[in-house]
Amino acid sequence: MYMTSNKHKVLFVCLGNICRSPMAEYLFKYELEKRGIADLFLVESRATSSEEEGNRIHPGTARILDKFKIDYSKKRAERITSADVRDFDYIICMDRNNIRSLEYRFGKSPKFMMLLDRDIADPWYTGNFIDAYNDIVLGIDLFLQKFNY
Ligand code: 4NP
Repeated sequence: MYMTSNKHKVLFVCLGNICRSPMAEYLFKYELEKRGIADLFLVESRATSSEEEGNRIHPGTARILDKFKIDYSKKRAERITSADVRDFDYIICMDRNNIRSLEYRFGKSPKFMMLLDRDIADPWYTGNFIDAYNDIVLGIDLFLQKFNY
């Protein structure tokens, strides 16, 4: 993390950091590249739980990222820390439970927000990675509208 960086610092958060938030992280970076604005952002993802710490992206998410030839090989699941909450500007959650977990650990923060105004169903339970993909793409598009790039 570059403390002096004036980039927009965006952190995607879900329960395990193997399905939804890494999908959002890499699709967001892909979209930034497409729009030619990747240099303006710093983008990462984290878990609220320590359940999957150190693990690679789930095969269901990997299959979707593979379609775009996105390289996620270095990604390992990480739990969010208080330093992350301090350093990132936008901490974007996949569901209400993620927000509740963050508030429980760190207290309320205006940085905590939802990617959509409803939960993005967890494909780890539903097996439906396509719905997660469609929701995430929509959420990314809405989020980027804030910046007028
Ligand atoms: P994610 O999915 O929050 O979208 O990464 C999950 C992954 C792992 C677990 C739960 C949800 N788990 O309990 O291990």
